[in-house]
Amino acid sequence: MVAARPGKQPGTAGTRKRPLWLPPTDNVGSGLGSFGRVHDPERPEFRLPGVMAHAASKSAVSMLTVHYAQAHPGLRVNVVDPGPTATDLNGHRGSQTVEEGAEAIVRAALLTSDGPTGTFSDAAGVSPW
Ligand SMILES: NC(=O)c1ccc[n+]([C@@H]2O[C@H](COP(=O)([O-])OP(=O)(O)OC[C@H]3O[C@@H](n4cnc5c(N)ncnc54)[C@H](OP(=O)(O)O)[C@@H]3O)[C@@H](O)[C@H]2O)c1
Repeated sequence: MVAARPGKQPGTAGTRKRPLWLPPTDNVGSGLGSFGRVHDPERPEFRLPGVMAHAASKSAVSMLTVHYAQAHPGLRVNVVDPGPTATDLNGHRGSQTVEEGAEAIVRAALLTSDGPTGTFSDAAGVSPW
């Protein structure tokens, strides 16, 4: 998900006369792509069967985000895990509503230029990878 929001992050590019607005970017990740979580027996992501390709793709999203953030320190590029949300993806078996799942994503989309970049977060805040 790329969140477009006007204002807050002015920059300049080359000879442009008008400011270039650079809104934060949320990449929607998942705890399933977190090496820490899949190794933690206390976490629901621990040894979850049948999600191998999905989990690997989410790890790739995380790594890509780290590289984007390092390459472009003026941007805010983060991964956000919405948490287990009742959607088509899981046959509506997630434990939280779409509104609850969207909360962390919206929070990251509202970051200003002094906010974190290259992070992984969920509803509880910034989390280890
Ligand atoms: N639900 C969870 O518990 C959960 C947990 C962690 C992370 N996530 C992540 O949250 C994100 C949203 O998941 P969700 O649960 O909302 O899934 P979802 O209910 O399956 O919705 C996926 C959405 O993506 C759209 N989409 C899929 N492929 C697309 C494409 N190639 N181009 C444009 N749009 C495309 C679909 O559009 P159509 O309806 O038109 O097909 C649909 O609106 C995913 O990245 C997922 O991995 C979800």
